[in-house]
Amino acid sequence: MRRSRSGLLAVGLAVALIALPACSSDANKGTGGGTNADKQVEVFSWWTGPGEAQGLDAMIADFKTKNPGIEFINAAVSGGAGTNAKAILANRLQGGNPPDSFQVHAGLELADSVKAGKVEDLTYLYDKEGWKAKLPKGLLEAITIEGKIYSVPVNIHRSNLLWFSPKTLSSLGISAPPKTWSEFLTQAATIQSKGKIPLSIGPLWTQKHLLENVLLGELGPEKYTGLWNGSTDWKSAEVVAAVDTYKKVLGFTDIKSAAADWQPALKKVSDGAAVYNLMGDWGNSLLAGDYKLTFKDGYDVVASPGTAGIYNFLSDSFTLPKGAKHRGAAEKWLVECGSVSGQDLFNPQKGSVPARTDTDKSKYKDYLATALADWTSSSTKIVGSLTHGVVANNAWNAEIDTALGLYVSDGNTAKFVDAVAKAYASTK
Ligand code: GAL
Repeated sequence: MRRSRSGLLAVGLAVALIALPACSSDANKGTGGGTNADKQVEVFSWWTGPGEAQGLDAMIADFKTKNPGIEFINAAVSGGAGTNAKAILANRLQGGNPPDSFQVHAGLELADSVKAGKVEDLTYLYDKEGWKAKLPKGLLEAITIEGKIYSVPVNIHRSNLLWFSPKTLSSLGISAPPKTWSEFLTQAATIQSKGKIPLSIGPLWTQKHLLENVLLGELGPEKYTGLWNGSTDWKSAEVVAAVDTYKKVLGFTDIKSAAADWQPALKKVSDGAAVYNLMGDWGNSLLAGDYKLTFKDGYDVVASPGTAGIYNFLSDSFTLPKGAKHRGAAEKWLVECGSVSGQDLFNPQKGSVPARTDTDKSKYKDYLATALADWTSSSTKIVGSLTHGVVANNAWNAEIDTALGLYVSDGNTAKFVDAVAKAYASTK
């Protein structure tokens, strides 16, 4: 699976806004107990924070309007990147008590659920709703396993973004955010000497999020992609040097008093305590949505150092678990997720761009207009996120977490790259 993913994420792959050739349609082989008369649907996600909860609420409201007889149970569990939700979900799936639909990232994270036999083939729904012609080819590939499609993507997020406040920058006499990590390190020394945090950080997953984007910025898209498909050697001199750069960058963060999650880490930027924060574009839901800051004036964002023209993507998608108690209602939720109206209500608040290619572009303003233009530009290079499930399976991701947890305290680069390389071999 990892090898075929490298094809999907091949560098230089333009966002393909074209229809896939028609695939053979599968029969609806539902295994759950629900019917079309279901009166309830339980949907599991990790969107509880300010900003992103509003995005989910907007889609729920649309679902309720279209399905007045169905009670919506929002089973969201807080914790950025699904840190808490994923463990709870795993227990529920293990115990045969699945929600009616759950959030999962497109890519190898979804492939794990498929391999474990936890989710239903949704190809029939794609045929019924005509979705194959409405999604970018590369995204369809990220949710297709052996010819079958297993989830409904609601959005596209960008991971490689550096957020800042223009006012803070000008108060420090910094004319522009750094274009390379070496430039960042120079700026960071000055920022620190002036008593501010150069780069705010949160829990381990945000440290991994930073790692993937330092590696991307230092190695470039081809070698970055190779890290996940075995063609870039983790122990090579350039990867070791890139990881060493990450260590230096980490030295200019507030890791010793790291924020509890991504929102308080990003808040340090809007408060002026920190100058930069590297986070995905769900940050827009907090800054523009919850804090009501104005794009370009109250806050601004650029591609993280070394990644101009690259979109490090991830996609939130929803599934139909095998054994869902309210299968009929779950299907209706999936139809909402895949609909133009659902995506156009959800994404402007969520800080993401729609997965569909035929939505109303006028709804995406300010930062989101730039994101949509970048995502759909034929010159944009697309790579996949590690932290958010695209390029590594769950077993390898968990091993990387363990190795990274040690690395951020012992700083032993040789030991870290060795552990990651060994884990790749053992979790393939
Ligand atoms: C990602 C998810 C985003 C956002 C982010 C922060 O994994 O795809 O939608 O929720 O975590 O929690």
